[in-house]
Amino acid sequence: MKQPSLSLPARAAAFLPFVLAACCVASPAPAPIILTGADMRPATSLDGQWASIVDPYFNGLFSFHHEEKANGFFLNRKAQPGDHSPTEYDFSKAPTLKVPADWNSQRDSLFYYEGPIWYQRDFTYQPKPHTRTYLHVGAANYRSWFWVNGQKVCDHEGGFTSFNCEVTSALHSGANFIVAAVDNTRHEDNVPTLQTDWWNYGGLTRSVSLIELPEAFIDQYDIHLSRTAPEQVEGWVHVEGAQPGVKVEVEIPELGVRTFSTVQQDGRAGVLLAAPGLERWSSDSPKLYKVTLRAGYDVIEEKIGFRTIETRGTEILLNGKPIFLRGIAIHAEAPYRLGRANTDQDAATLLGWAKELGCNFVRLAHYPHDETMLRAADRMGLLVWSENPVYWALQFDNPKVLAKARQQLDEEIGTSRNHPAIILWSMANETPSYEARTQFIAALAAHARELDPTRLITAALLVRAEGNTKIIDDPLGKALDVIGFNEYIGWYEQTPAGADTTTWRVDYQKPLIVSEFGGGAKAGLHGSPTDRWTEEYQADIYRHQLPMLNRIPQLRGMSPWLLMDFRSPNRPLVGIQDGFNRKGLISDQGQRKQAFFLLQKAYQDKTVGKPD
Ligand code: GCU
Repeated sequence: MKQPSLSLPARAAAFLPFVLAACCVASPAPAPIILTGADMRPATSLDGQWASIVDPYFNGLFSFHHEEKANGFFLNRKAQPGDHSPTEYDFSKAPTLKVPADWNSQRDSLFYYEGPIWYQRDFTYQPKPHTRTYLHVGAANYRSWFWVNGQKVCDHEGGFTSFNCEVTSALHSGANFIVAAVDNTRHEDNVPTLQTDWWNYGGLTRSVSLIELPEAFIDQYDIHLSRTAPEQVEGWVHVEGAQPGVKVEVEIPELGVRTFSTVQQDGRAGVLLAAPGLERWSSDSPKLYKVTLRAGYDVIEEKIGFRTIETRGTEILLNGKPIFLRGIAIHAEAPYRLGRANTDQDAATLLGWAKELGCNFVRLAHYPHDETMLRAADRMGLLVWSENPVYWALQFDNPKVLAKARQQLDEEIGTSRNHPAIILWSMANETPSYEARTQFIAALAAHARELDPTRLITAALLVRAEGNTKIIDDPLGKALDVIGFNEYIGWYEQTPAGADTTTWRVDYQKPLIVSEFGGGAKAGLHGSPTDRWTEEYQADIYRHQLPMLNRIPQLRGMSPWLLMDFRSPNRPLVGIQDGFNRKGLISDQGQRKQAFFLLQKAYQDKTVGKPD
């Protein structure tokens, strides 16, 4: 950092006002809140082109002594004649980045970039009386800070869940500006941590908007079908800022039913609604109802389907009937254009391919996906496994890391709890089995059950082997309702035919889902079934896997790895991978590989799993 040639005391004096201010600036802004169904609320979109400044040393926020600055880039300052110190940034002259989108796919120079980037845009706004305004951020990977008109409104950690920051007091009538800093630097104590097998797409990756709410408003609600009383809708509505006694109304106009209740001390109003003639949501008939929620001046119009999901012994019961989950795993990688998936079209393409494959189930890996994806799954009748990004080897003995994972779970479940499509909350993927880890994830599972007792809790476990026997006995299985397991016979171990002689020992009387199996193939590369990376080799893995999996008595579902090739920093094999994990059944450009048709036939003929 270049400084004017002043003596030390003079130099310190020059910086004093800034440093002093730094301590005041650091005062934390209010924590963001969770809004259930925020995407159903009318909003002023802030999507579009935002000015951007790449700031690898985070000079826009931290001083040369790494103290938070008072005059950071968040002031969006313009140099003034006679200034005593230079203003060394100018958003009005800066290149733009599209929002929502990751920055890596927008500029070659940012393809590998991991670090802070500043975003800025102007907007006009007319504050209204008796109205609270929230900045809704669909997702910002990984850490993010937000200022409106130079006032800090919130900061957030976690790249795949939405959050909402109150901006009421920061807004002006007329011209306003917003500045955000987003940093996708990986740290060991992050969730996920340093290593992932997906691209660390950074930025404002999902939509950003302004939502207006009355002084007391519905922030979270849970409306679902009772597991015990048929045609009984139950749940609760929490009203932020409401006095006890405030009336809450829940109505299902199509059924001509409504119920009233009152807000209690804890801000919640219970919901109990008899709904004679209610048609249940299922994968064959994904019936959605408009549900209107009212509290004071606040109204939300939701689209909800009503179904029950539970286990009975080793069975998974959808609406009381045993079901087999014919699925596929999916990353939020945009088909064709690549980068973070976040549009209705991305969802329609990816889930359309899953339907074409004959699926009734998708594992959305390894982090919460966009609401557009979940709304599409609701409409298309695709059952969903949704996952918290507790992936591989986190710092499981670090209570701060547990708090971060819990916060992400709060946001995932709080935001998406009314999607009929979601039947499973997954707590983790392929974590090493040791005591601190098991306690960590068991605590998360207990927390998820508290937040949502209406769904099933699972995780993708690793399996161990003794000779030709695969053994599922990970102690974490005790904390789960449904056990997911990943295995790569024929790819990372043995040959595809190794599956023919593999037996399975399962130490749990619970439903099992094989949450990953498969192998890589370059679309269009052909050869014999023993030639790795050919479509024939990949198909041969599936040919041997399906009969083996059918021999596991309590197998109740599968989500092979995976639907579409996706970018990964761990896949440099030139001419084959070129930065992509090639285990997709479809290439990133839509080419269906042989294994796609093999699995499609098995799903359509229902030769895998017990017939429904
Ligand atoms: C793991 C992991 C995936 C990864 C896959 C692979 O099982 O869960 O995230 O992409 O293996 O190696 O292809």
